[in-house]
Amino acid sequence: MSFERAGLVIALPKGRMMDDAYAAFARAGFELPAATGERELWHGDGERAVLELRGADVPTYVDLGIADVGVVGRDVLLESGRDLYEPVDLGFGACRLSLIRRPDDDRPIRRIASKYPSFTQAWLRERGLVADVVKLHGNVELAALVGLADAVVDVVQTGRTLKAAGLVEVEVLARSSARLIVNKSALKLKRALLWPLIERLREAARTTSG
Ligand code: PRP
Repeated sequence: MSFERAGLVIALPKGRMMDDAYAAFARAGFELPAATGERELWHGDGERAVLELRGADVPTYVDLGIADVGVVGRDVLLESGRDLYEPVDLGFGACRLSLIRRPDDDRPIRRIASKYPSFTQAWLRERGLVADVVKLHGNVELAALVGLADAVVDVVQTGRTLKAAGLVEVEVLARSSARLIVNKSALKLKRALLWPLIERLREAARTTSG
């Protein structure tokens, strides 16, 4: 099957957030086309197509107009630095981006490891602080444990990983949850399709959280 531009193209992150995104759209009365096979890159028809992406790629596909809308964590959006219209807080995937250290370590922070290097640099600049930022791709807490870095900036959800590692959350730098993001041109060109979707997702998120 080749990728034909469907009426509405939706970019979703693979993994945990995908099921919640499907459920949120269904609650809003907007059924997304179901995945049909293994290792599919996208699925759907001429009306609606779903692109299955790594979370960090969702803002790129929406900003460059390949997808009209997407679902992504605010943490990922902050790291992307892209200026996207973000009209709905979908409520799920709540977590925080925090500065994390070893409890016995109070030396000045010279090096920070993170999966969020741009966000971390921006935070340092805002505070007037200077430190090296090292990009890592996973298991970031280990960097603080073994001394690769004096601190890490990472996602805290339940706090279980920190507890198990004996690390402490020194400061919450940002709060995150899943957001609907929308391409700004699509919002104008497909307003009859997109505004009702935004309104219904907003209403469904309000009902679920309230
Ligand atoms: C994330 C994050 C933390 C952990 C936080 O990692 O980087 O390590 O979850 O969750 P918790 O507070 O509920 O313990 P993820 O599972 O995405 O894998 P990764 O470490 O390989 O990035």
